[in-house]
Amino acid sequence: MNAWGVRLSSSARNTVLLCSLLVIASGAAWMILGGMVDTQNYADPLHTIRHRMLVLHGVAAYVLVWMAGRLSSLHQQGNWRAHRNRRNGALLTAVLALLAVSGLCLYYPPHEDWREAISQLHQGLGIALALLLPLHLLAARALRRVRTRPDSAR
Ligand code: HEM
Ligand code: HEM
Repeated sequence: MNAWGVRLSSSARNTVLLCSLLVIASGAAWMILGGMVDTQNYADPLHTIRHRMLVLHGVAAYVLVWMAGRLSSLHQQGNWRAHRNRRNGALLTAVLALLAVSGLCLYYPPHEDWREAISQLHQGLGIALALLLPLHLLAARALRRVRTRPDSAR
């Protein structure tokens, strides 16, 4: 069986989850530190920590997009064709794609005046990802329970 198949091996699952956690935690840390940092004082060490969180976020986000590519052919398309976990999986995929596009627009805003709105959208989508991923795992666990029932053919 392929480790990155319709069902993920435990190492593939842990890699995806660790990477998602890094992206979510670094993004959330940037938001929280925003409320604590002294905007008038550039000597405030929280500025440096916040900047490092954003660098970590950018690096982890690149890796997560790579992971999504690895999941695409077997996990996403395979489960889609088999009608398993479709609604949540499609939503998760759409949110990831919109995060990647809005993240790119933060690097290269189409118009400087739009940057703040794009940032708010990106942060809202980030919170949606943090909620959808655990739901996806719960749905996966429920499917596994159905599968391991003695009378199940799935
Ligand atoms: C159309 C899109 C998708 C569909 C239809 C889908 C479907 C599924 C299904 C059916 C399972 C349960 C597998 C099993 O039988 O154990 C599952 C588990 C999982 N999926 Fe997806 N998925 C999709 C997209 C994604 C994406 C984009 C990610 C990553 C961010 C992801 C990450 C995972 C993880 C980590 C598990 C848990 C594996 C485990 O507990 O062993 N999926 N998915
Ligand atoms: C696939 C997922 C994601 C990608 C590709 C992505 C990409 C990016 C990129 C490229 C930036 C700009 C970095 C910079 O200006 O140096 C960024 C900023 C940011 N991201 Fe993400 N991100 C993702 C997920 C998330 C998540 C899950 C959250 C929240 C929990 C989040 C919160 C933020 C925040 C708060 C910023 C700073 C916004 C600003 O500079 O105004 N991101 N992201």
